[in-house]
Amino acid sequence: MSKRTNVNITTEEAKKQDNIITELAYHIKDKGLTFYIGTFGCQMNALDSEKIEGILVKIGYIKTENEKEADFLIYNTCCVRENAELKIYGKLGALKHRKKKNPNFMIALCGCMMQQDIVLETLKKSYKFVDIIFGTFNIYKLPELLQARIETGEHIIDIWETHEDIVEDLPSIRKHEFKSCVNIMYGCNNFCTYCIVPYVRGRERSRQMEDIYLQVKNLVAEGVKEIMLLGQNVNSYGKNLEDGATFAHLLEKIATIEGLKRIRFMTSHPKDFSDELIECITKHDNICNSIHLPFQSGSTSILKQMNRGYTKEDYLALVNKIKKSIPNVTLTTDIIVGFPGETDKDFSDTIDVVKQVKYLSAFTFIYSKRTGTPAATMENQIDEKTIKVRFNELVNTVDNISSEFMHAQIGQEYEVLLEDTSKNDLDMLSGRTDTGILVHVKAPINFIGEFVKVKIISAKTHYLIAERR
Ligand code: 5AD
Ligand code: SF4
Repeated sequence: MSKRTNVNITTEEAKKQDNIITELAYHIKDKGLTFYIGTFGCQMNALDSEKIEGILVKIGYIKTENEKEADFLIYNTCCVRENAELKIYGKLGALKHRKKKNPNFMIALCGCMMQQDIVLETLKKSYKFVDIIFGTFNIYKLPELLQARIETGEHIIDIWETHEDIVEDLPSIRKHEFKSCVNIMYGCNNFCTYCIVPYVRGRERSRQMEDIYLQVKNLVAEGVKEIMLLGQNVNSYGKNLEDGATFAHLLEKIATIEGLKRIRFMTSHPKDFSDELIECITKHDNICNSIHLPFQSGSTSILKQMNRGYTKEDYLALVNKIKKSIPNVTLTTDIIVGFPGETDKDFSDTIDVVKQVKYLSAFTFIYSKRTGTPAATMENQIDEKTIKVRFNELVNTVDNISSEFMHAQIGQEYEVLLEDTSKNDLDMLSGRTDTGILVHVKAPINFIGEFVKVKIISAKTHYLIAERR
């Protein structure tokens, strides 16, 4: 295994990988080999998987949705909660015998889970049959790692501890033609005490504003109408740049791109949400009026233990300011239940915040102990039974509020960007309003990627049904 730091990467590196892609393509193209990427975790991983897909398709692998038949299986892993890791070990256990059946069969593992020493040790000891292991900092090296695996026959493990530079100009395949995610920064400096992300994704590194601007401009020229700007903490964009750029500056610049209809961004940290940003959102029609603003816990003392950098009152004051300044804004959030030391009173503060803010939806998580984080060794870990009771109460509260909000939309008119066929009804397409509300509407399949005007005719807890106007 090689653990490296501070490797300097230039666009030369991208060219080098591209040459390797050409060499690999010569051997792989006409063989009809298929690949499947299993993506776990957040949108960052989803975007990384698009890059992996871009590389593999260029090499000549054929994408398949059939995980069971693929010649090359790639799992892009997550380690934010223990469950995500257990799923990967479960999947690997079932794969050992597939190599005997298919001599071409290969497995690659990448993503956040691979950045932990304890995981690498387990893989080396008990899952020796995995062909390639790489991490979050060297995805662009995949062509080189694949070539090494094929030419040497050795199992390849290449994990880096950190990375200063950012390589973006490799092939990537977007899931949708009309919308795209764009990374604006990598890593996180916040060290919330429960969270493993800063350990596996490294310190904050912002991309240059001009690079992001040009990327978005090109995407729009290719037909993209909606952009999601991604970062673990977008509000601290620019802090490591020398030109004094802020996230609001970046948004201002991107909002001027002609033809870009919708700009979304996530995730916002409440402690860095500036007035300048609120003003910028109100000023530009194409910046969506929906904000993902995780609060994690409503209890000021738990927030302190979590190292979140705000109190319950700070958070509620920020929400009030946002609601006052941005009409019809919708808020979504992340909430953790059962952080060490959480009392009934702490939990009732969480419920209180949910009731006051009235989120459109919330991602609710049971606290998961992550080895290496400060919270893992805190006293008063909460028992499972108490957590379950609290979790159910939280989910019910969130759902009741969401349902109330959805039913209040009946009769309203919205513009919806249609994104996909509906999962439940093949005659329906599903899309989102500017404010992020999920709407199902009857429309022909070729309307995917188009904006339509709709009137809401009925509501469920998490979505609306509409008819076209
Ligand atoms: N346990 C449970 N939830 C967690 N999250 C991050 N770390 C943990 C953990 N150890 C949640 C937070 C974060 C979201 C992406 O995942 O709510 O906002
Ligand atoms: Fe994790 Fe906190 Fe960083 Fe979000 S802000 S990635 S919860 S450490």
